[in-house]
Amino acid sequence: MRDSRHRYGESFTIAIGKGKLSKVVFVTHPKDLELILSNDDGELFDAPGELNATLEPLLGTESLIGLSGDRHRRARQLLLPPFHGERMRSYGQLIQEIVAEAMNEEIAGSPFSVRKLMQTISMRVILQAVFGLRHGPRYQRLEKVLGRMLDRLGSPFSVSFLFFPVLQLDFGPLSPWGSFVRDRKEISRLIFEEIAERRAHADRSRKDILSLLMGACDETGEALTDSELRDELMTLLTAGHETTATALTWALYWIHKLPSTRQQLLSELGSIGGAYDPNTIFRLPYLNAICAETLRIYPVGMLTFPRVTKTRVELTVTSLKPGTIVMGCIYLAHRREDVYPDPEQFRPERFLERRFSPFEYLPFGGGSRRCIGMAFAQFEMKLVISRILSTFELVFTSKGPVRLGRRGLTSGPSPFRMAIKRRLPETTPCSGD
Ligand code: HEM
Repeated sequence: MRDSRHRYGESFTIAIGKGKLSKVVFVTHPKDLELILSNDDGELFDAPGELNATLEPLLGTESLIGLSGDRHRRARQLLLPPFHGERMRSYGQLIQEIVAEAMNEEIAGSPFSVRKLMQTISMRVILQAVFGLRHGPRYQRLEKVLGRMLDRLGSPFSVSFLFFPVLQLDFGPLSPWGSFVRDRKEISRLIFEEIAERRAHADRSRKDILSLLMGACDETGEALTDSELRDELMTLLTAGHETTATALTWALYWIHKLPSTRQQLLSELGSIGGAYDPNTIFRLPYLNAICAETLRIYPVGMLTFPRVTKTRVELTVTSLKPGTIVMGCIYLAHRREDVYPDPEQFRPERFLERRFSPFEYLPFGGGSRRCIGMAFAQFEMKLVISRILSTFELVFTSKGPVRLGRRGLTSGPSPFRMAIKRRLPETTPCSGD
Protein backbone atom coordinates (compact mmCIF):
# COMPACT_ATOMS: atom_id res chain seq x y z
CA MET A 1 0.00 0.00 0.00
CA ARG A 2 2.85 2.38 0.83
CA ASP A 3 4.53 1.63 -2.50
CA SER A 4 1.31 2.26 -4.41
CA ARG A 5 0.71 5.53 -2.60
CA HIS A 6 4.27 6.56 -3.42
CA ARG A 7 3.95 5.59 -7.08
CA TYR A 8 0.38 6.59 -7.89
CA GLY A 9 -0.61 9.24 -5.34
CA GLU A 10 -3.66 9.89 -3.19
CA SER A 11 -5.91 7.24 -4.79
CA PHE A 12 -5.04 4.12 -6.72
CA THR A 13 -6.77 1.02 -8.03
CA ILE A 14 -5.97 -2.48 -6.75
CA ALA A 15 -7.37 -5.97 -7.29
CA ILE A 16 -8.20 -7.31 -3.83
CA GLY A 17 -10.37 -10.20 -4.93
CA LYS A 18 -12.20 -11.67 -7.86
CA GLY A 19 -15.29 -10.43 -9.76
CA LYS A 20 -16.40 -7.04 -8.56
CA LEU A 21 -13.46 -6.77 -6.17
CA SER A 22 -10.94 -7.10 -9.01
CA LYS A 23 -10.93 -3.30 -9.32
CA VAL A 24 -11.11 -1.36 -6.08
CA VAL A 25 -10.06 2.27 -5.64
CA PHE A 26 -8.14 2.82 -2.39
CA VAL A 27 -8.79 6.28 -0.97
CA THR A 28 -6.42 7.98 1.46
CA HIS A 29 -7.08 11.75 1.46
CA PRO A 30 -9.14 13.00 4.45
CA LYS A 31 -11.28 15.17 2.12
CA ASP A 32 -12.13 12.17 -0.04
CA LEU A 33 -12.79 9.99 2.98
CA GLU A 34 -15.12 12.66 4.28
CA LEU A 35 -16.98 12.79 0.98
CA ILE A 36 -17.41 9.02 0.93
CA LEU A 37 -18.22 8.35 4.57
CA SER A 38 -20.59 11.31 4.92
CA ASN A 39 -22.54 10.25 1.82
CA ASP A 40 -22.48 6.47 1.86
CA ASP A 41 -26.18 6.13 2.48
CA GLY A 42 -27.41 8.80 0.10
CA GLU A 43 -27.17 10.07 -3.46
CA LEU A 44 -23.45 9.68 -4.02
CA PHE A 45 -22.52 6.31 -2.52
CA ASP A 46 -23.96 3.04 -1.27
CA ALA A 47 -22.47 0.58 1.22
CA PRO A 48 -23.76 -2.69 -0.25
CA GLY A 49 -23.54 -5.73 1.99
CA GLU A 50 -23.41 -8.02 -1.07
CA LEU A 51 -19.80 -6.96 -1.51
CA ASN A 52 -19.02 -8.63 1.81
CA ALA A 53 -20.39 -11.98 0.65
CA THR A 54 -16.98 -13.59 1.27
CA LEU A 55 -17.91 -13.66 4.96
CA GLU A 56 -21.24 -15.38 4.43
CA PRO A 57 -20.05 -18.94 5.17
CA LEU A 58 -18.87 -17.66 8.52
CA LEU A 59 -21.54 -15.15 9.51
CA GLY A 60 -24.63 -16.50 7.72
CA THR A 61 -26.96 -14.77 5.28
CA GLU A 62 -28.61 -12.45 7.80
CA SER A 63 -25.53 -10.85 9.33
CA LEU A 64 -25.50 -7.06 9.59
CA ILE A 65 -22.27 -7.04 7.59
CA GLY A 66 -23.94 -8.68 4.58
CA LEU A 67 -27.16 -6.61 4.64
CA SER A 68 -27.86 -3.46 2.60
CA GLY A 69 -30.27 -0.52 2.59
CA ASP A 70 -33.33 -0.70 4.85
CA ARG A 71 -32.50 -4.16 6.18
CA HIS A 72 -29.03 -2.97 7.17
CA ARG A 73 -30.46 0.15 8.86
CA ARG A 74 -32.99 -1.98 10.77
CA ALA A 75 -30.31 -4.39 11.98
CA ARG A 76 -28.10 -1.53 13.16
CA GLN A 77 -31.01 0.04 15.00
CA LEU A 78 -31.56 -3.22 16.87
CA LEU A 79 -27.90 -3.96 17.52
CA LEU A 80 -26.62 -0.55 18.58
CA PRO A 81 -28.37 0.09 21.94
CA PRO A 82 -26.54 -2.62 23.94
CA PHE A 83 -23.24 -0.97 22.95
CA HIS A 84 -24.14 2.45 24.27
CA GLY A 85 -22.96 4.40 27.32
CA GLU A 86 -24.28 3.10 30.60
CA ARG A 87 -25.19 -0.34 29.25
CA MET A 88 -21.66 -0.88 28.12
CA ARG A 89 -20.09 0.53 31.27
CA SER A 90 -21.93 -2.08 33.30
CA TYR A 91 -19.45 -4.63 31.91
CA GLY A 92 -16.56 -2.78 33.60
CA GLN A 93 -16.16 -4.81 36.73
CA LEU A 94 -16.61 -8.01 34.85
CA ILE A 95 -13.80 -7.15 32.42
CA GLN A 96 -11.46 -6.45 35.33
CA GLU A 97 -12.32 -9.76 36.99
CA ILE A 98 -11.67 -11.63 33.76
CA VAL A 99 -8.24 -9.98 33.41
CA ALA A 100 -7.31 -10.82 37.00
CA GLU A 101 -8.43 -14.43 36.55
CA ALA A 102 -6.59 -14.90 33.24
CA MET A 103 -3.39 -13.27 34.52
CA ASN A 104 -3.42 -15.41 37.64
CA GLU A 105 -3.48 -18.49 35.43
CA GLU A 106 -0.04 -17.41 34.09
CA ILE A 107 2.78 -18.72 36.23
CA ALA A 108 5.17 -15.99 37.32
CA GLY A 109 8.42 -16.24 35.42
CA SER A 110 7.34 -18.59 32.64
CA PRO A 111 7.01 -16.98 29.23
CA PHE A 112 3.54 -16.74 27.71
CA SER A 113 2.32 -15.82 24.26
CA VAL A 114 0.91 -12.31 24.56
CA ARG A 115 -1.53 -12.88 21.70
CA LYS A 116 -2.86 -16.10 23.26
CA LEU A 117 -3.41 -14.42 26.60
CA MET A 118 -5.13 -11.43 25.00
CA GLN A 119 -7.29 -13.82 22.96
CA THR A 120 -8.30 -15.65 26.12
CA ILE A 121 -9.25 -12.36 27.78
CA SER A 122 -11.13 -10.98 24.79
CA MET A 123 -12.98 -14.28 24.22
CA ARG A 124 -14.11 -14.44 27.86
CA VAL A 125 -15.16 -10.79 27.82
CA ILE A 126 -17.17 -11.23 24.66
CA LEU A 127 -18.79 -14.49 25.74
CA GLN A 128 -19.80 -12.91 29.00
CA ALA A 129 -20.90 -9.56 27.58
CA VAL A 130 -22.61 -10.97 24.49
CA PHE A 131 -24.06 -14.20 25.88
CA GLY A 132 -23.97 -13.57 29.59
CA LEU A 133 -22.20 -16.93 29.87
CA ARG A 134 -19.33 -17.45 32.24
CA HIS A 135 -19.52 -20.91 33.69
CA GLY A 136 -21.06 -24.24 32.80
CA PRO A 137 -20.62 -26.80 30.05
CA ARG A 138 -22.18 -24.67 27.27
CA TYR A 139 -19.84 -21.79 28.04
CA GLN A 140 -16.81 -24.08 28.13
CA ARG A 141 -17.73 -25.72 24.85
CA LEU A 142 -18.40 -22.38 23.12
CA GLU A 143 -15.11 -20.96 24.37
CA LYS A 144 -13.27 -23.95 22.99
CA VAL A 145 -14.97 -24.37 19.61
CA LEU A 146 -15.32 -20.65 18.85
CA GLY A 147 -11.72 -20.05 19.89
CA ARG A 148 -10.57 -22.83 17.56
CA MET A 149 -12.65 -21.56 14.66
CA LEU A 150 -11.70 -17.91 15.03
CA ASP A 151 -8.06 -18.77 15.58
CA ARG A 152 -8.02 -20.62 12.28
CA LEU A 153 -9.29 -17.47 10.60
CA GLY A 154 -6.20 -15.68 11.87
CA SER A 155 -4.06 -17.56 9.38
CA PRO A 156 -3.94 -16.30 5.76
CA PHE A 157 -3.66 -19.93 4.61
CA SER A 158 -6.70 -21.23 6.52
CA VAL A 159 -8.82 -18.22 5.64
CA SER A 160 -8.21 -18.75 1.91
CA PHE A 161 -11.26 -21.05 1.66
CA LEU A 162 -13.46 -18.02 2.29
CA PHE A 163 -11.94 -16.22 -0.68
CA PHE A 164 -11.86 -19.24 -2.99
CA PRO A 165 -15.13 -21.18 -2.94
CA VAL A 166 -13.47 -24.03 -4.92
CA LEU A 167 -11.62 -24.86 -1.69
CA GLN A 168 -14.90 -25.37 0.14
CA LEU A 169 -14.69 -29.16 -0.03
CA ASP A 170 -15.43 -31.40 2.91
CA PHE A 171 -12.76 -34.12 3.08
CA GLY A 172 -13.67 -35.03 6.65
CA PRO A 173 -13.06 -33.48 10.06
CA LEU A 174 -9.32 -33.05 9.52
CA SER A 175 -9.60 -31.07 6.27
CA PRO A 176 -9.71 -27.25 6.67
CA TRP A 177 -13.24 -26.84 5.26
CA GLY A 178 -14.49 -30.06 6.88
CA SER A 179 -13.44 -28.98 10.37
CA PHE A 180 -14.75 -25.44 9.77
CA VAL A 181 -18.19 -26.77 8.78
CA ARG A 182 -18.33 -29.08 11.82
CA ASP A 183 -17.33 -26.32 14.23
CA ARG A 184 -19.86 -23.96 12.66
CA LYS A 185 -22.61 -26.55 13.09
CA GLU A 186 -21.75 -27.13 16.73
CA ILE A 187 -21.62 -23.38 17.47
CA SER A 188 -25.06 -22.92 15.86
CA ARG A 189 -26.45 -25.76 17.94
CA LEU A 190 -25.08 -24.24 21.16
CA ILE A 191 -26.46 -20.80 20.25
CA PHE A 192 -29.92 -22.16 19.38
CA GLU A 193 -30.00 -24.15 22.63
CA GLU A 194 -29.14 -21.02 24.60
CA ILE A 195 -31.86 -19.01 22.81
CA ALA A 196 -34.46 -21.74 23.42
CA GLU A 197 -33.56 -21.91 27.10
CA ARG A 198 -33.85 -18.12 27.46
CA ARG A 199 -37.23 -18.11 25.72
CA ALA A 200 -38.45 -20.84 28.06
CA HIS A 201 -37.19 -19.09 31.22
CA ALA A 202 -37.35 -15.35 30.54
CA ASP A 203 -35.26 -13.37 33.05
CA ARG A 204 -35.71 -9.60 32.75
CA SER A 205 -32.81 -8.85 35.06
CA ARG A 206 -30.25 -10.10 32.51
CA LYS A 207 -28.15 -7.35 30.93
CA ASP A 208 -26.14 -9.28 28.36
CA ILE A 209 -26.39 -8.41 24.68
CA LEU A 210 -28.25 -11.59 23.69
CA SER A 211 -30.98 -10.85 26.26
CA LEU A 212 -31.25 -7.25 25.08
CA LEU A 213 -31.42 -8.33 21.45
CA MET A 214 -34.08 -10.95 22.21
CA GLY A 215 -36.22 -8.24 23.79
CA ALA A 216 -35.61 -5.61 21.08
CA CYS A 217 -38.23 -4.71 18.43
CA ASP A 218 -37.96 -2.61 15.31
CA GLU A 219 -40.40 0.25 14.56
CA THR A 220 -42.99 -2.16 13.18
CA GLY A 221 -42.87 -4.20 16.39
CA GLU A 222 -40.94 -7.09 14.81
CA ALA A 223 -38.29 -8.86 16.91
CA LEU A 224 -35.27 -10.71 15.55
CA THR A 225 -35.90 -14.31 14.55
CA ASP A 226 -33.75 -17.13 15.94
CA SER A 227 -31.68 -17.38 12.77
CA GLU A 228 -31.19 -13.60 12.66
CA LEU A 229 -30.10 -13.74 16.28
CA ARG A 230 -27.65 -16.52 15.50
CA ASP A 231 -26.11 -14.62 12.57
CA GLU A 232 -25.82 -11.37 14.55
CA LEU A 233 -24.21 -13.16 17.49
CA MET A 234 -21.69 -14.79 15.17
CA THR A 235 -21.03 -11.34 13.66
CA LEU A 236 -20.38 -9.74 17.04
CA LEU A 237 -18.17 -12.59 18.18
CA THR A 238 -16.16 -12.66 14.96
CA ALA A 239 -15.84 -8.90 14.53
CA GLY A 240 -15.16 -8.23 18.20
CA HIS A 241 -12.83 -10.99 19.33
CA GLU A 242 -9.80 -11.01 17.08
CA THR A 243 -9.76 -7.23 16.54
CA THR A 244 -9.70 -6.36 20.23
CA ALA A 245 -7.19 -9.11 21.06
CA THR A 246 -4.84 -7.77 18.38
CA ALA A 247 -5.20 -4.17 19.55
CA LEU A 248 -4.40 -5.26 23.11
CA THR A 249 -1.37 -7.25 21.96
CA TRP A 250 0.01 -4.21 20.11
CA ALA A 251 -0.68 -1.93 23.07
CA LEU A 252 1.28 -4.18 25.46
CA TYR A 253 4.07 -4.36 22.92
CA TRP A 254 4.41 -0.59 22.57
CA ILE A 255 4.08 0.15 26.28
CA HIS A 256 6.90 -2.26 27.12
CA LYS A 257 9.03 -1.45 24.10
CA LEU A 258 9.18 2.23 25.10
CA PRO A 259 10.15 2.59 28.78
CA SER A 260 9.22 6.30 28.93
CA THR A 261 5.70 5.50 27.69
CA ARG A 262 5.32 2.82 30.36
CA GLN A 263 6.66 5.13 33.03
CA GLN A 264 4.29 7.92 32.10
CA LEU A 265 1.34 5.53 32.07
CA LEU A 266 2.32 4.14 35.47
CA SER A 267 2.44 7.61 36.96
CA GLU A 268 -0.97 8.40 35.50
CA LEU A 269 -2.38 5.19 36.98
CA GLY A 270 -0.63 6.06 40.26
CA SER A 271 -2.31 9.46 40.26
CA ILE A 272 -5.69 7.79 40.74
CA GLY A 273 -4.32 5.82 43.67
CA GLY A 274 -4.86 2.40 42.16
CA ALA A 275 -8.58 3.07 41.72
CA TYR A 276 -10.29 0.46 39.59
CA ASP A 277 -13.36 2.56 38.91
CA PRO A 278 -14.02 1.95 35.19
CA ASN A 279 -15.37 5.45 34.56
CA THR A 280 -12.27 7.07 36.02
CA ILE A 281 -10.01 4.78 34.01
CA PHE A 282 -11.97 5.41 30.84
CA ARG A 283 -11.26 9.15 31.10
CA LEU A 284 -7.49 8.99 31.74
CA PRO A 285 -5.89 11.16 29.03
CA TYR A 286 -2.55 9.38 28.61
CA LEU A 287 -4.09 5.92 28.61
CA ASN A 288 -6.54 7.17 26.00
CA ALA A 289 -3.65 8.55 23.92
CA ILE A 290 -1.80 5.21 24.09
CA CYS A 291 -4.87 3.31 22.87
CA ALA A 292 -5.46 5.85 20.10
CA GLU A 293 -1.84 5.75 18.94
CA THR A 294 -1.87 1.92 19.02
CA LEU A 295 -4.79 1.91 16.58
CA ARG A 296 -3.25 4.68 14.48
CA ILE A 297 0.15 3.24 13.81
CA TYR A 298 -1.03 -0.26 12.85
CA PRO A 299 -4.81 -0.18 12.49
CA VAL A 300 -6.16 -3.69 13.00
CA GLY A 301 -8.64 -3.23 10.15
CA MET A 302 -6.51 -1.61 7.47
CA LEU A 303 -9.46 -0.93 5.16
CA THR A 304 -13.08 0.04 5.51
CA PHE A 305 -15.71 -2.21 3.98
CA PRO A 306 -16.33 -1.36 0.31
CA ARG A 307 -18.60 1.51 -0.82
CA VAL A 308 -19.82 2.01 -4.38
CA THR A 309 -20.49 5.21 -6.37
CA LYS A 310 -24.09 5.75 -7.51
CA THR A 311 -23.21 8.60 -9.84
CA ARG A 312 -20.05 10.29 -11.18
CA VAL A 313 -18.04 11.54 -8.20
CA GLU A 314 -15.07 13.91 -8.20
CA LEU A 315 -12.36 13.09 -5.68
CA THR A 316 -9.39 15.41 -5.01
CA VAL A 317 -7.26 13.92 -7.77
CA THR A 318 -9.53 11.65 -9.76
CA SER A 319 -13.01 11.28 -11.14
CA LEU A 320 -14.98 8.09 -10.46
CA LYS A 321 -17.54 6.55 -12.83
CA PRO A 322 -20.88 5.33 -11.45
CA GLY A 323 -20.51 1.78 -10.14
CA THR A 324 -16.89 2.21 -8.98
CA ILE A 325 -15.97 0.35 -5.81
CA VAL A 326 -13.96 2.34 -3.28
CA MET A 327 -12.44 1.48 0.09
CA GLY A 328 -11.09 3.84 2.71
CA CYS A 329 -7.45 2.95 3.24
CA ILE A 330 -7.18 3.46 6.99
CA TYR A 331 -3.55 2.34 7.07
CA LEU A 332 -2.39 5.04 4.64
CA ALA A 333 -4.71 7.73 6.05
CA HIS A 334 -2.96 7.17 9.39
CA ARG A 335 0.49 7.54 7.84
CA ARG A 336 0.12 10.95 6.24
CA GLU A 337 3.14 13.15 7.03
CA ASP A 338 0.97 16.28 6.76
CA VAL A 339 -1.33 15.03 9.54
CA TYR A 340 1.01 12.86 11.60
CA PRO A 341 4.63 14.12 11.52
CA ASP A 342 7.03 11.14 11.84
CA PRO A 343 4.18 8.70 11.20
CA GLU A 344 6.38 5.65 11.86
CA GLN A 345 7.06 6.81 15.42
CA PHE A 346 4.80 5.59 18.22
CA ARG A 347 4.06 8.89 19.98
CA PRO A 348 0.88 8.98 22.10
CA GLU A 349 1.54 12.68 22.84
CA ARG A 350 0.25 13.60 19.38
CA PHE A 351 -3.25 12.80 20.66
CA LEU A 352 -2.75 15.17 23.61
CA GLU A 353 -1.41 17.98 21.44
CA ARG A 354 -4.22 18.18 18.89
CA ARG A 355 -7.55 16.72 17.84
CA PHE A 356 -7.87 14.82 14.60
CA SER A 357 -10.95 14.86 12.42
CA PRO A 358 -12.92 11.60 12.01
CA PHE A 359 -11.56 11.44 8.45
CA GLU A 360 -7.92 11.84 9.50
CA TYR A 361 -8.23 9.28 12.27
CA LEU A 362 -10.62 6.42 11.58
CA PRO A 363 -9.53 3.07 13.05
CA PHE A 364 -13.22 2.08 13.28
CA GLY A 365 -14.22 3.30 9.80
CA GLY A 366 -17.14 5.69 9.54
CA GLY A 367 -20.47 6.52 7.94
CA SER A 368 -23.27 4.00 7.67
CA ARG A 369 -21.03 1.02 8.49
CA ARG A 370 -18.98 2.53 11.29
CA CYS A 371 -17.94 -0.17 13.75
CA ILE A 372 -20.73 -0.75 16.24
CA GLY A 373 -18.28 -2.13 18.81
CA MET A 374 -16.12 1.02 18.83
CA ALA A 375 -16.96 2.25 22.33
CA PHE A 376 -16.93 -1.28 23.70
CA ALA A 377 -13.48 -2.03 22.24
CA GLN A 378 -12.01 1.24 23.54
CA PHE A 379 -13.48 0.61 26.97
CA GLU A 380 -12.17 -2.94 27.07
CA MET A 381 -8.69 -1.89 25.92
CA LYS A 382 -8.38 0.70 28.66
CA LEU A 383 -9.59 -1.58 31.42
CA VAL A 384 -7.42 -4.51 30.38
CA ILE A 385 -4.25 -2.43 29.98
CA SER A 386 -4.73 -0.48 33.20
CA ARG A 387 -5.42 -3.62 35.18
CA ILE A 388 -2.38 -5.50 33.85
CA LEU A 389 -0.04 -2.54 34.21
CA SER A 390 -1.08 -1.72 37.74
CA THR A 391 -0.81 -5.32 38.93
CA PHE A 392 2.22 -6.79 37.17
CA GLU A 393 5.63 -5.92 35.89
CA LEU A 394 6.08 -7.71 32.56
CA VAL A 395 9.26 -8.28 30.55
CA PHE A 396 9.86 -9.38 26.97
CA THR A 397 11.31 -12.87 26.67
CA SER A 398 11.31 -12.97 22.85
CA LYS A 399 14.46 -11.58 21.31
CA GLY A 400 13.66 -11.10 17.62
CA PRO A 401 11.92 -8.08 16.07
CA VAL A 402 8.11 -7.93 16.11
CA ARG A 403 6.67 -7.19 12.69
CA LEU A 404 3.32 -6.25 11.21
CA GLY A 405 1.77 -9.07 9.20
CA ARG A 406 -1.51 -10.23 7.76
CA ARG A 407 -3.75 -12.24 10.06
CA GLY A 408 -6.42 -13.61 7.80
CA LEU A 409 -9.02 -10.89 7.60
CA THR A 410 -7.10 -8.36 9.70
CA SER A 411 -3.49 -7.41 10.42
CA GLY A 412 -1.44 -7.85 13.58
CA PRO A 413 2.00 -8.34 15.16
CA SER A 414 4.14 -11.42 14.62
CA PRO A 415 4.06 -13.67 17.73
CA PHE A 416 6.07 -12.63 20.76
CA ARG A 417 6.31 -13.71 24.37
CA MET A 418 6.55 -11.98 27.70
CA ALA A 419 6.79 -13.12 31.34
CA ILE A 420 5.59 -11.76 34.66
CA LYS A 421 8.69 -10.43 36.42
CA ARG A 422 6.88 -9.58 39.62
CA ARG A 423 3.50 -8.75 41.05
CA LEU A 424 3.28 -5.11 42.08
CA PRO A 425 2.20 -4.23 45.62
CA GLU A 426 -1.60 -4.32 46.08
CA THR A 427 -3.47 -1.02 46.14
CA THR A 428 -6.89 -0.66 47.67
CA PRO A 429 -9.41 -0.71 44.86
CA CYS A 430 -12.32 1.74 44.84
CA SER A 431 -15.65 0.05 44.37
CA GLY A 432 -16.15 -0.35 40.63
CA ASP A 433 -19.31 -0.82 38.66
C1 HEM B 1 -10.06 -2.64 18.29
C2 HEM B 1 -11.15 -3.27 17.92
C3 HEM B 1 -11.91 -3.04 16.65
C4 HEM B 1 -11.52 -2.44 15.47
C5 HEM B 1 -10.16 -1.83 15.12
C6 HEM B 1 -12.66 -2.49 14.56
C7 HEM B 1 -12.66 -1.96 13.28
C8 HEM B 1 -13.75 -1.97 12.42
C9 HEM B 1 -13.77 -1.41 11.09
C10 HEM B 1 -12.58 -0.72 10.41
C11 HEM B 1 -15.00 -1.62 10.56
C12 HEM B 1 -15.48 -1.22 9.16
C13 HEM B 1 -16.19 0.12 9.21
C14 HEM B 1 -16.48 0.75 7.88
O1 HEM B 1 -16.54 0.07 6.84
O2 HEM B 1 -16.68 1.99 7.84
C15 HEM B 1 -15.78 -2.34 11.56
C16 HEM B 1 -17.08 -2.76 11.40
C17 HEM B 1 -17.78 -3.51 12.33
N1 HEM B 1 -17.36 -3.85 13.60
FE1 HEM B 1 -15.59 -3.41 14.45
N2 HEM B 1 -13.70 -3.12 15.20
C18 HEM B 1 -13.29 -3.47 16.47
C19 HEM B 1 -14.05 -4.09 17.46
C20 HEM B 1 -15.35 -4.49 17.32
C21 HEM B 1 -16.18 -5.07 18.36
C22 HEM B 1 -15.74 -5.27 19.83
C23 HEM B 1 -17.38 -5.38 17.79
C24 HEM B 1 -18.61 -6.00 18.42
C25 HEM B 1 -18.65 -6.68 19.53
C26 HEM B 1 -17.32 -4.97 16.40
C27 HEM B 1 -18.36 -5.11 15.49
C28 HEM B 1 -18.35 -4.59 14.20
C29 HEM B 1 -19.46 -4.76 13.28
C30 HEM B 1 -20.75 -5.55 13.54
C31 HEM B 1 -19.11 -4.07 12.10
C32 HEM B 1 -19.94 -3.97 10.82
C33 HEM B 1 -20.86 -2.76 10.86
C34 HEM B 1 -21.79 -2.68 9.67
O3 HEM B 1 -21.57 -3.38 8.67
O4 HEM B 1 -22.75 -1.89 9.74
N3 HEM B 1 -16.08 -4.44 16.15
N4 HEM B 1 -15.00 -2.53 12.69
